[in-house]
Amino acid sequence: MVDHKKKTQKEENEMEQELEQPEETTENSTNKKIQSISDLPGIGAATIEKLEKSGFTDLMSIAVATPGELVGATEMSEATAKKVISIARSNLEMNFESGEEILRKRESINKITTGSKELDKLLGGGFETAAITECFGQYGSGKSQIAHVLSVRCQLPTEKGGAGGMVVFIDTENTFRPERIVQISKGLNLDQEQVLKNIKVARAFNSDHQMLLAEKVEDLIKKQKLPIKLLIVDSLTAHFRAEFIGRGTLAERQQKINKHMHTLMKLADKYNFAVYVTNQVMSKPDVFFGDPTEAIGGHIVAHNSTYRIYLRRGKKGSRVAKMVDSPNMPESEAIFFVEEKGIKDA
Ligand SMILES: Nc1ncnc2c1ncn2[C@@H]1O[C@H](COP(=O)(O)OP(=O)(O)O)[C@@H](O)[C@H]1O
Ligand SMILES: [Mg+2]
Repeated sequence: MVDHKKKTQKEENEMEQELEQPEETTENSTNKKIQSISDLPGIGAATIEKLEKSGFTDLMSIAVATPGELVGATEMSEATAKKVISIARSNLEMNFESGEEILRKRESINKITTGSKELDKLLGGGFETAAITECFGQYGSGKSQIAHVLSVRCQLPTEKGGAGGMVVFIDTENTFRPERIVQISKGLNLDQEQVLKNIKVARAFNSDHQMLLAEKVEDLIKKQKLPIKLLIVDSLTAHFRAEFIGRGTLAERQQKINKHMHTLMKLADKYNFAVYVTNQVMSKPDVFFGDPTEAIGGHIVAHNSTYRIYLRRGKKGSRVAKMVDSPNMPESEAIFFVEEKGIKDA
């Protein structure tokens, strides 16, 4: 214990010393440009590890952090934290995009249809690329059925309501069923063999594995040149929920989910693919009025999802989808049915 404290104090001193160096050295053209956390002066491997564990993975996250957050994550002094933040800010490339550029980007966005006009309408046309859409609901509400339907329909050409691309399916609960893919493909007169080939399925055995798999999607696109148009994480939260039990570990769990969702959003934006994540609800036994359930992951998942849909079973075997917290859609509901061939309107 004591040794550890001493060591961090020593590290701390070294860090402060290095940061104390005169300003000119950072402007010296022979110095390499500060582009990532590891380029920051005085940040050692141990500190980087602590930062990354808390979700501070790039300069932007440091630049927008408060000194208190960095102190909490790394045990560095407040003075050091302030300096690091200021260096990160001054070295950050600020990318201002014009409204026109953003409009052009929006025009390249695809919407993957579901087979239910109602559900598509709820989403403003379908599951959007460059966005994260979350469905949360109880067991059996249809979250995984939607995942299977999207896995097939994503492959349709854009003029037929797809995105003309391949799918990555990160399966955390072993609920991916190729037989379902075959049934849905038949309903659309698609070559089932080809459809199955275009879905890359990976079982995630724990939350770290899940996070790593999400990062590896970039390799599929960059190295293997696969035209990925949809990334599914079904379920987003199950491993996190199972692994982090109890109050003490809740903060760490939230940080990890936050980091994971940042990875998803960054890639979705960079490569213009859709992200579909599913989330369970937990019951709140102390609620007597209103909805006695609550989505797992709380505000972190909610904040990081572009579109959030609450799914529940409705009358006569129907499913009810309700849009919550959308930036540009009104709160409304859609009713649809799960059938052998996929999803249909009433
Ligand atoms: N081939 C099918 N035909 C009609 N309904 C199906 C079919 N397969 C599954 N379902 C429906 O989907 C439900 C399971 O939904 P699912 O998406 O797995 O729930 P979850 O929200 O837990 O992921 C089943 O209870 C059943 O009602
Ligand atoms: Mg499921």
